[in-house]
Amino acid sequence: MSRIRVGIVGAGQMASLHAAAYKEIEDAEVYAVCDRREEVAINKALEWGASRSYTDYADLIADPNVDAVEVLTPHHLHHEIVMAAAAAGKAIHVAKPLAIGLKTAERVLDLVEQRGVLLQVSEPSFHFRPLLEAQGFIESGEIGSPMAIRMKVTLGSPSGGWPTKPESWLWRMDPARCGGGALLFDHGYHKLAAALLLMGPVEQVSAWVSRTEIHPGYFLDAPTLVFWKHVASNRVGSLELTYAPQLLVRSTTYPVVEFIEVTGTRGMLWVNQGCARVLNSAPLELMRDSRLFSFGDLDEDWREAVYASVKNFVLCMRGQARPTLSGGEALRVLRFALAAREAAHHGGTVVVGDVPRGA
Ligand SMILES: NC(=O)c1ccc[n+]([C@@H]2O[C@H](COP(=O)([O-])OP(=O)(O)OC[C@H]3O[C@@H](n4cnc5c(N)ncnc54)[C@H](O)[C@@H]3O)[C@@H](O)[C@H]2O)c1
Repeated sequence: MSRIRVGIVGAGQMASLHAAAYKEIEDAEVYAVCDRREEVAINKALEWGASRSYTDYADLIADPNVDAVEVLTPHHLHHEIVMAAAAAGKAIHVAKPLAIGLKTAERVLDLVEQRGVLLQVSEPSFHFRPLLEAQGFIESGEIGSPMAIRMKVTLGSPSGGWPTKPESWLWRMDPARCGGGALLFDHGYHKLAAALLLMGPVEQVSAWVSRTEIHPGYFLDAPTLVFWKHVASNRVGSLELTYAPQLLVRSTTYPVVEFIEVTGTRGMLWVNQGCARVLNSAPLELMRDSRLFSFGDLDEDWREAVYASVKNFVLCMRGQARPTLSGGEALRVLRFALAAREAAHHGGTVVVGDVPRGA
């Protein structure tokens, strides 16, 4: 395949990082940009050096010069854009979630499989070096048998870095467009994916979700506590999501303080950073045999993880890599997140039914 020409649908905040990633790839380019706001589509096409701009994603997909489609719109639109792209035989890189309902996601995957098109669901955290090293330590038994994972995300207010764009938040606070709460279905969602990666499948989940009004009529799902039991015996996890409006966070992207802690039978490890570098501690630490090991030389720039996710997609198109998250794997994360949402809604515990697709 010669130079890969990509069409970006949804030219918002995240698209700027994906477009920057394509600038670093020699044999791929952003060829077309679609946004329902015409001035955004044109401005971003000019900024990113794209040849075409569209306001209707169907037109971008119908463009014969477009080889691959990046889907970076609000969540409720993902499934229809992915299905249109699959029907047209285009390769697809879609932001999470694949769809906001399980049945819809299954239908999307059926079509993708039937058409035999490439689908990668973007999960930059799976390219985040400190997390990958942590996974390696767990798999090689450095902390013994993992027993508990504890994860925390606190959304603060930006101090420099990315400006907060109200339009990027408004749809997230509408469950019909987001799929669930703005925190659980965004930063929280990536943490649930990380729990599956590090600790394996999940059996049951409970959740307590509160609401904080951040503007008249607009609610954030904070504070939230999700806790669960993995399929492996004696293995549990928890996720805490909070909003601290007066906490100023210096970050090159989102103003969030986040960490992951895994406790094993002979050691513990901590991934101390995510989007923002806020602590002085190393991005990854490991405690074992009464000693603390700090790994300060890992690439901790979260933007690099996003770039790596895009580069992986291009390698997949060339048959040189496998998708970071396949459709089937993405379905497992969606099932987990929806079970947490249901548990919060009805109370009690929800069985996740985390099984491979087709099993
Ligand atoms: N860690 C991560 O991987 C990560 C981080 C941030 C965002 N995301 C994902 O990226 C996606 C986009 O998030 P964002 O923060 O950039 O949102 P955003 O609101 O900044 O951008 C969305 C864009 O989509 C456009 N849009 C809306 N409807 C459209 C339509 N019908 N056709 C074409 N364009 C349309 C909007 O005008 C807007 O420009 C979401 O799925 C989000 O979950 C992932």
